[in-house]
Amino acid sequence: MKTHRIAVIPGDGIGPEVIREGIKVLDEVAVLDGGFGWEWEHFSWGCDDYNKTGRMMPSDGLEQLRGFDAIYFGAVGDKSVPDHVSVWELILPIRRQFQQYINLRPVKKLPGVQGPLSRSDDIDFVVIRENTEGEYANIGGGLNEATSEELVVQTNIFTRRGIERAARYAFKLAQTRRKRLMVATKSNAMNYSMPFWDRVIRQLALDYPDVQVEFAHVDALAAYFVLRPHTFDVVLASNLFGDILTDLGAAVVGGLGVAPSANINPERNFPSMFEPVHGSAPDIAGKGIANPIATIWTGVLMLESLGEQSAADKLMSAILSVMKSGTVLTPDLGGTDSTVDMGDAVRKAVRDIYDRSGV
Ligand code: NAD
Ligand code: IPM
Ligand code: MN
Repeated sequence: MKTHRIAVIPGDGIGPEVIREGIKVLDEVAVLDGGFGWEWEHFSWGCDDYNKTGRMMPSDGLEQLRGFDAIYFGAVGDKSVPDHVSVWELILPIRRQFQQYINLRPVKKLPGVQGPLSRSDDIDFVVIRENTEGEYANIGGGLNEATSEELVVQTNIFTRRGIERAARYAFKLAQTRRKRLMVATKSNAMNYSMPFWDRVIRQLALDYPDVQVEFAHVDALAAYFVLRPHTFDVVLASNLFGDILTDLGAAVVGGLGVAPSANINPERNFPSMFEPVHGSAPDIAGKGIANPIATIWTGVLMLESLGEQSAADKLMSAILSVMKSGTVLTPDLGGTDSTVDMGDAVRKAVRDIYDRSGV
């Protein structure tokens, strides 16, 4: 029997609360499937560690993670540590050093979930976000701190290789879906980076004549997400634009409690990392009311990436059936149920699905 070795980094705030439910559900799936098992190794890295040791992860942290089949990540961020420190010492180094240059974020309306735009049930698209360069290049600096002459610069880096590899992934994904690609740009104002981004993608489009490509300035695209979300299939965006668009996409389909995400190294030279779109949600942390669906659905993406398609499909069906029934709802979805209630409901639904399939 295969054993998938997973590094678990629950992190801060609601991270440990939602990851706990995710692992319980994934353990149940493995037992029912019978074809594979999990070996979870927990890493307590995060802001608590930082306050004790001055580090978000040990100096050899990336080396420790490198040999795992995948990383299951909760969220990072606590008010005791500046956000740019916590993210740049934990999550962003993992994405960059492990060349997780694809950030895949489904935006899919689940039946039964009441979003602000619940008019249409056929919202089903995927945002491919370039995940290692662009506006998150980590190049910059400042001068004359705290004087009237103070200045800072923060540089965006766009490389032909970086754009091409993200775009190729998006084109190929579109070929397996409805063959439509919407590219987020801002070539009117960002007059060096974005015309280049557009040009590289237009050239690449020649290799994918069956995919219909459209470009929209990201400001207009934000409005289209709200006005006609059902028209999108695959959306390709740079790092920062993709970050903003995916919180918006989450809101369009019911909120951050139901938005999964995968940071993928397509070459599999390094482990990929699976984490919900949301953060540590300090406003609800410790109350036991965070919605674990985003993290459980992220588990579906992890199963798919590990080659466990049948288990992934069954877990997705379980999520769909719980959402559709509407009998268990956390406060973000308008109910009063807890994180654990929601996790339990998904586990029960998984058992029902395996029972019915006769496995
Ligand atoms: P956030 O995603 O943590 O929270 C935004 C809002 O969504 C809050 O009202 C929160 O209660 C709600 N929310 C988020 N997840 C939810 C869930 N599962 N169930 C119900 N409600 C949920 O974003 P923020 O407030 O901008 O950031 C808080 C901290 O998290 C910051 O330190 C930030 O840097 C960090 N952050 C980390 C990640 C990550 O680790 N991947 C992602 C985003 C933000
Ligand atoms: C996300 C988060 C991160 C990002 C932060 C924590 C650096 O907002 O995963 O969407 O901006 O990528
Ligand atoms: Mn974000």
